[in-house]
Amino acid sequence: MWDLDLAERGAERIAWAEKLMPVCRSVGAVFKRDRPLEGLRIGCCLHVTKETAVLVKVLSEGGASVALCPSNPLSTQDDVAAALSELGIQVYAYRGMPPREYYEAIGKVLSHRPHITVDDGADLTSTVHKIMHGVRDEGVAWASSVLSDPRGSCSEVFGGTEETTTGVVRLRSLETQGLLLYPVIAVNDSPTKRLFDNPIGTGQSVLDGIMRATGVLLAGKRLVVAGYGQVGSGIAMRARGLGCEVIVVEPSPVRALMAAMNGFRVTDMNEAAEVGDIFVTATGNINVIRREHFLRMRSGAILANAGHYDVEISKNDLSSISERVEKVSELVTKYVLHDGRELYLLAEGRLVNLVAAEGHPPEVMDLSFSLQALAVKYLAENRERLGRRVYVLPEEIDDAVARGKLESMGVKLESLTEEQKRYLREWRLGTS
Ligand SMILES: NC(=O)c1ccc[n+]([C@@H]2O[C@H](COP(=O)([O-])OP(=O)(O)OC[C@H]3O[C@@H](n4cnc5c(N)ncnc54)[C@H](O)[C@@H]3O)[C@@H](O)[C@H]2O)c1
Repeated sequence: MWDLDLAERGAERIAWAEKLMPVCRSVGAVFKRDRPLEGLRIGCCLHVTKETAVLVKVLSEGGASVALCPSNPLSTQDDVAAALSELGIQVYAYRGMPPREYYEAIGKVLSHRPHITVDDGADLTSTVHKIMHGVRDEGVAWASSVLSDPRGSCSEVFGGTEETTTGVVRLRSLETQGLLLYPVIAVNDSPTKRLFDNPIGTGQSVLDGIMRATGVLLAGKRLVVAGYGQVGSGIAMRARGLGCEVIVVEPSPVRALMAAMNGFRVTDMNEAAEVGDIFVTATGNINVIRREHFLRMRSGAILANAGHYDVEISKNDLSSISERVEKVSELVTKYVLHDGRELYLLAEGRLVNLVAAEGHPPEVMDLSFSLQALAVKYLAENRERLGRRVYVLPEEIDDAVARGKLESMGVKLESLTEEQKRYLREWRLGTS
């Protein structure tokens, strides 16, 4: 557990993030004036970072009382948790929480009987749904163990938001099966989130994580990216910028074609495994790099994951083919295979950008978290109207956030003339 002495440093880092998050600041100013969240209890399950602290402050300025648990056991910045606690936020997080405590923290957030859940990866939302639908597993048992009335604790939730692709996949699965209990806004799917946070934020911070963990020179390395989706394409682009030879592994024909036409070498993991120096998974899928791939890798290969869960690089397979496992540093684990080759796993296979670095830079989280705050307000204002579905925020909200960001950057937008607006709505005009 962290020490309250860390709070001062945490507060300084939060203030630094806040300076770089002007759109969140202006949403906070409006919230402070209008108090759209007065009387609401919000349960957040988010990476406990300085940027998250800015979001929590905005929600509090809107009148909500907020309880926070982490969305990954290793991503908590302890100084930020201490600073939030000093500010009176109920925060149940410290870096390196074991699985039981991680789920107990989710239970503690539920003990505040939230009206709205704000999630990153859907661990909080799925715990609510498991409790309400009577699904028992170890995580639910741990979360319930801190609740005198688990169902009662979940019964007042009337809406939720979701930050990441993996969480949205789970929500859509609940929706398709008719099991979703309340409306959830897929903030991840807003253009102002997915076009910036996923490729640009992750592209920079994943490479930052690899560099902080290993100190290796990226120029001249062969870097294999598994998944050329929103996240993977950003990592590939930034790695190329740093001088890597980038190889993409991708099962979707369209995405693979896009990677090939963007000039990347595209192949399957079996072939990539033989030549890669650094491997990064960004798929949201399971066992993307597994036994048969490890057995082809060159000694010294570095393995890192950017996907939400630590399931993309099979740690079980890696252990099963290893003679010994050694911790080289807090962030690097060495697996010595039976034939003497060495493979280096970063951040225990968890999100390398959040565990080995500080997650996305504040400028990018300014967009994602402005959307999150506005999504919470949207839920509060539209609770009677929304059904048990996964929603995307209205385009006007997206545009307002993008516009606010552009203003803060001093970037001018072109204005359409009335004639141009009419022309774009016209079907009669064509070749002249
Ligand atoms: N590290 C971060 O900070 C961060 C930020 C945003 C999203 N994420 C997470 O990153 C993951 C990817 O998100 P996204 O938005 O790019 O999703 P996406 O759906 O846009 O892309 C995933 C890609 O992976 C491909 N894929 C699936 N299985 C594969 C396999 N076995 N081998 C290679 N490729 C495979 C898919 O075809 C797809 O193109 C999710 O888990 C998401 O939650 C992490």
